[in-house]
Amino acid sequence: MKLGIISAMEEELAPLLEAMEVESTNTKANMTFNKGKLWGKDVIAVVSGIGKVNAAICAQILASEYKVDTLINVGVAGGIGKDVYPGDVVIGDSLVEHDMDATKFGYKHGQIPRLDVFDFKSDKTLVETAKKACDSLENINSFVGRIVSGDEFVSDIDRIKWLQDTYEAISCEMEGASIAHVAYLNNIKFVVIRSISDNANNGAHMDYEKFLPIAIKNSVTILETMIKSM
Ligand code: ADE
Repeated sequence: MKLGIISAMEEELAPLLEAMEVESTNTKANMTFNKGKLWGKDVIAVVSGIGKVNAAICAQILASEYKVDTLINVGVAGGIGKDVYPGDVVIGDSLVEHDMDATKFGYKHGQIPRLDVFDFKSDKTLVETAKKACDSLENINSFVGRIVSGDEFVSDIDRIKWLQDTYEAISCEMEGASIAHVAYLNNIKFVVIRSISDNANNGAHMDYEKFLPIAIKNSVTILETMIKSM
């Protein structure tokens, strides 16, 4: 197995890099690719930067140049719905780009025109492994469901309601679906694991600052448990 791990922000990846035996680093597209061993596995870990384009470029470099066979996207996300709270973990089994809108041509929201799938499905075994890792840890509430991504920090109650009604989403963030899209086009397994930093509502940016450290801690703990069990 050759594993690519992508986080959008430095603070999300920092604890993993500390645990990793980095053998080499290489900069491409302004991103530093750290190659080495993490809990016994061959890993390339990289901070992509925020948003769908950065994440897609990063995932494609991992696919084309590093020939990874598995992509894991880890980081924080906004919670959607009444059950998902800061500190909880969401495992995306289905990913959709929520800001794709070709509805004028009769496509439903989120559908990429002329693509043969609506959503990008995570690898079932990776989802199960991630869920088992969450269940084995005390005090971690986890959910499996659809995560939607867009170039937007969601901080509006009507917008979350729209995301929930339109996509049945349990969480929103800004990269996962574009990584999933690249994985799909390259025929690579992937999973998106996110820890909730806010409820994507009107105070989202303030909750985000407050819960970011705990959310990062949770996602790293899960990844460690998961990778050790793989
Ligand atoms: N990442 C963390 N919280 C988010 C939010 N509310 N919207 C988009 N991305 C996020």
